[in-house]
Amino acid sequence: MTKTSKKKAFIECHLNTSVRSDCLSAIDLTAPEDVIAVTKFHQSIPGYSPTPLIRLPELAKNLGVSELLIKDESQRFDLNAFKVLGASYAMARVIMAQLELDRVELSFDSISSQADSFRHLTFVTATDGNHGRAVAWSAKKFGCNAVVYMPKGSSKTRLAAIQNYGAEASIIETNYDETVLFAEKMAKENAWILLQDTSWQGYETIPAYIMQGYFTLLTEALNQAKGIWPTHVFVQAGVGSLAASLLAFLCSFVEKAKPVFVLVEPIGAPCFFRSIQAGDGKPHSVHGDLKTIMAGLACGKPSQTGWEILKAGTDAFIICSDEIARRGMRILGNPSGDDKRVISGESGAVTLGLVYELLSNTKYRNLKDKLDLKRDTKILLFSTEGDTDPEHYRKVVW
Ligand SMILES: Cc1ncc(COP(=O)(O)O)c(C=O)c1O
Repeated sequence: MTKTSKKKAFIECHLNTSVRSDCLSAIDLTAPEDVIAVTKFHQSIPGYSPTPLIRLPELAKNLGVSELLIKDESQRFDLNAFKVLGASYAMARVIMAQLELDRVELSFDSISSQADSFRHLTFVTATDGNHGRAVAWSAKKFGCNAVVYMPKGSSKTRLAAIQNYGAEASIIETNYDETVLFAEKMAKENAWILLQDTSWQGYETIPAYIMQGYFTLLTEALNQAKGIWPTHVFVQAGVGSLAASLLAFLCSFVEKAKPVFVLVEPIGAPCFFRSIQAGDGKPHSVHGDLKTIMAGLACGKPSQTGWEILKAGTDAFIICSDEIARRGMRILGNPSGDDKRVISGESGAVTLGLVYELLSNTKYRNLKDKLDLKRDTKILLFSTEGDTDPEHYRKVVW
């Protein structure tokens, strides 16, 4: 365990001593036919193109590592975040089940051609912003209805972005986890379909589709990396569905060495960190207002499926102060040399901010060694959002 603070930049790490390389969960996410169906489906959506994988050679050189690669999700359709990969695929699978289509036939056109038979469906969800926007966008594309609830303190810009896609969206007076419960209750009362990006006992199927939808991030990244296999992958977590999806997918490449996998959370919402610290193998929630600028990561309750996978295969659980995310936003927004600029929001930039701190601050030399960060290290990161709160982005970066 390492604990250090530098002004407001603060990192705490819990190393997982019982890490495994299989990372299997009770639900088999990585069946080859599902992996193929996900990619084919996303490619069939009008306007699809892979988001860029940006190489940052100058920054890598300055930090003393071999490669620094970052997937830029600010360019995912017109949505400024990765979340639509999960929501669109899960919605397609739900509709497909109603239409009795086989998953290999799953494509945007095969579904849309039968729109009259599912137009009446209403999908409901709770969100800090990005997932709700993705649900609203997907419902509009398929011609269905969306209802979206946001926790107190949510950004009005993010609310407006959701309403722009025709969803009935509102900010309510509860925190994120209570808002999820409210969305579940409204789904039951109104016969709506809950399309939530986190799982709990008895609610596993739709979150599993959402997690499978995220595979496209890695499928694209590995294609774009042209043979570079990462030695280290850092992923940010809210409920942990994204991180667990990527970890499970990485572990499914059994012929490759499992990268060192680092899970990153805000200090204000450390549910995975607290869970691994508890040492009893169970997920633990954190309560209260979950104060952090990383809105997408402000979740107090781990996804059940996410936890099962992450506790098995995560090498290090790290919590960071907001300053680490701000630093990541600034570095990505003001690159050195010929490195490309990446517009990265609070939840998107935290892993880069962390990598920078670990590699440049001598206080972390010990932790750097424990994480095996060295000259031939190849790091893969995911900038999961652009400036989804443009006003705050400007305040931080300018
Ligand atoms: C931009 C961004 N990054 C990362 C995450 C974390 O994803 P998960 O909640 O699946 O851990 C979120 C979640 O909403 C997000 O909006």
